[in-house]
Amino acid sequence: MSIIAARKDSAAAAKVAEEKQAPASAASPANTTTAQPASVNRPATRGQVDITNVRKSFGTTEVLKGVSLSVPPGGVAVIVGPSGSGKSTLLRTINHLEKVDGGYITIDGELVGYEVRGNKLHELREKDILKQRTHIGMVFQSFNLFPHLTALENVIEAPIVAQKRSKAEARKRGLELLDRVGLKDRADAYPRQLSGGQQQRVAIARALALDPKILLFDEPTSALDPELVNEVLDVIRELAKSGTTLIVVTHEMGFARDVADTVVFMDQGQIVESGTPQDIFANPREERTRSFFSKVIEPAFNI
Ligand SMILES: Nc1ncnc2c1ncn2[C@@H]1O[C@H](COP(=O)(O)OP(=O)(O)OP(=O)(O)O)[C@@H](O)[C@H]1O
Ligand SMILES: [Mg+2]
Repeated sequence: MSIIAARKDSAAAAKVAEEKQAPASAASPANTTTAQPASVNRPATRGQVDITNVRKSFGTTEVLKGVSLSVPPGGVAVIVGPSGSGKSTLLRTINHLEKVDGGYITIDGELVGYEVRGNKLHELREKDILKQRTHIGMVFQSFNLFPHLTALENVIEAPIVAQKRSKAEARKRGLELLDRVGLKDRADAYPRQLSGGQQQRVAIARALALDPKILLFDEPTSALDPELVNEVLDVIRELAKSGTTLIVVTHEMGFARDVADTVVFMDQGQIVESGTPQDIFANPREERTRSFFSKVIEPAFNI
């Protein structure tokens, strides 16, 4: 759906429309690369995320104070920062679980949650918001699986309901996805019969089932026992190579160092600085960044 094309009359629309050209012109490489196995590095051609000057308040407290961030197709951005700095809120604005009070977000040039009418942004209808959300997978700290559905049923529910896929087709794809997260043999298990790490891997398979352009993770391992953290991080590491754009909020600094293209440090509703893991961990420019990492990183942690 092109929200923007019909409304080139405002500056915002013109900017968004211009950005929309980029993925379209890269369409042919996509056709040649999608046949490759997901675990092979491949050039990504979709999933460009642009967050522009986003502001958000709860009551009188401004928790996002003009946040701007771009993540290219296939990019892996890891957001770190102290509790209450706005990381979850920022993530939730990307799939419009939170409305923004200012600024805007586009994915592949298409405004998220809003359309331009006249010179103003108007919120989309619920039906269109839900449709947009099918392009954006989200994995939460608390798994959020349906307890009365098996692992496979959890994975195939959205493709059948939202995309009207046939049950047979959805099952075939669902089993492939469970295989990808190492759980094909647990397809018929209910969440209560799975460990936390296994449940989170089912949640990742479920997020992949709609073939999203981007995947958002909000502290995907922080509810897990320490020995289960790596099995989930390993799945995310694999995804990072597959060309899906990932935006991950985590406290796992080793993971951020290994997997991120860009580490984003947030504090008090702002991005204090962002850069490569080397930039941010080893050579932070800002005192706030240095002070945060001096508290969270083990002395033995070497970049
Ligand atoms: N629905 C809400 N209503 C009111 N205040 C909220 C709401 N959601 C978040 N906040 C406040 O917004 C600020 C940012 O919260 P947010 O959850 O985005 O932080 P965070 O960086 O994800 O923190 P953590 O690392 O603890 O998860 C906090 O002060 C929080 O109390
Ligand atoms: Mg949070």
